[in-house]
Amino acid sequence: MSSFDLDIPITFKHRIRFAKNVLDIHNPVLGELFPTGEEAKLIVFIENEILNHFPEIESELSDWLSAQPQLSLTAVVKAEGGEYCKRSELVCREVMDAIELHKIDRHSYVWVIGGGAFLDVVGFAAATAHRGIRLVRFPTTTLSQDDSGVGVKNGINLYQKKNFLGTFAVPYAVVNDFRFLYTQPPQLCRDGLVEAVKVALVKDPEFFSWIEEHLSELSALTPAILEECVTRSATLHARHIALGGDPFEMGSSRPLDYGHWAAHKAEQLSEFALSHSRAVSVGIALDTLYASKQGHLCSAQVEQVFRVLRGLHLPLWDDSFGLRNESGKLLLLDGLDEFREHLGGRLTIMLLRELGTGFDVHEIDHELMEECVMALENLPR
Ligand SMILES: NC(=O)c1ccc[n+]([C@@H]2O[C@H](COP(=O)([O-])OP(=O)(O)OC[C@H]3O[C@@H](n4cnc5c(N)ncnc54)[C@H](O)[C@@H]3O)[C@@H](O)[C@H]2O)c1
Ligand SMILES: [Zn+2]
Repeated sequence: MSSFDLDIPITFKHRIRFAKNVLDIHNPVLGELFPTGEEAKLIVFIENEILNHFPEIESELSDWLSAQPQLSLTAVVKAEGGEYCKRSELVCREVMDAIELHKIDRHSYVWVIGGGAFLDVVGFAAATAHRGIRLVRFPTTTLSQDDSGVGVKNGINLYQKKNFLGTFAVPYAVVNDFRFLYTQPPQLCRDGLVEAVKVALVKDPEFFSWIEEHLSELSALTPAILEECVTRSATLHARHIALGGDPFEMGSSRPLDYGHWAAHKAEQLSEFALSHSRAVSVGIALDTLYASKQGHLCSAQVEQVFRVLRGLHLPLWDDSFGLRNESGKLLLLDGLDEFREHLGGRLTIMLLRELGTGFDVHEIDHELMEECVMALENLPR
């Protein structure tokens, strides 16, 4: 009998690019990502909404590819995006079918162009088909550019639970092309900035002050300020993942999930009528208020956070936060246990010590949390 432990050291390169109009044949950003001597197949998945706004994108793709002889395009596949695509296996199956039909292998590339939900679905299919195909993400919403697209996760919902099926998989590359930001409805574009507010609150006081100072430009979606905010947020997210020591979330601390335990539960309670970003806004408001009731923040700091969220026209309340069962129990509080279950291990919730500094707690006072929920409900709107 013998036994031994072996370390399996693996490093990944997380290639992240910020640019505008990357499919312009004169723009070198995209071409530099693909080695010239290495022939590879390519399949492109685009969500329908992007094709509605950018009908020229297919011809741009073929023009760009004509200057890249090492890449051979097998198909451009259109599919439905938005939260719908994560709610069942249908779109994931369409992606798998196309990968199989076009004989996409582990040396091929899957490109995905779409919002956070579509990236999650195509990313999940790409990470699991043949045990992993190289994925290039082109995020098209603010949220997917400033947060989810530069992350290393994918997933689809099952059992009414967000991201029940999913993997950790570092994409081959992420290309944040700012041109996509400007076809979003203005409120959707602003909503995605909530993840910038979140990462600033837990990691970077100076960035939070910058957001406060530029609130009116951010609210007006002034391009240079919007793009700077997206870049700073994406960089903080990516640096945390790459350098924070726990890229695949083996531990319990999840700073990038500040405000998310409640957000995920509220999304589910609303049957996903409430979007992720708007749920996160209320979740941030709730946990910020809770930290102040626990004596970690003063009321002026809570007001600063509320002012930023309000300035971006983000909500501090949604009715799903106040839903109760027949015996009067606040359903939202089940989200704490579900959050723990999804992460495994001990309950770990990030709270704020200062605006820009988070710390973990392992217990939540349910009565006090309920008080905070009711305080949010009673805020003037
Ligand atoms: N994998 C992760 O680490 C991670 C992290 C955070 C969030 N997420 C997930 O991301 C999803 C939310 O992403 P989202 O906020 O991008 O929403 P979304 O993908 O649902 O897109 C919102 C809407 O915008 C449309 N759209 C996309 N790009 C557009 C554009 N350029 N112009 C006009 N319309 C456009 C979509 O069709 C959709 O109707 C959620 O499912 C959330 O769970 C994943
Ligand atoms: Zn989020």
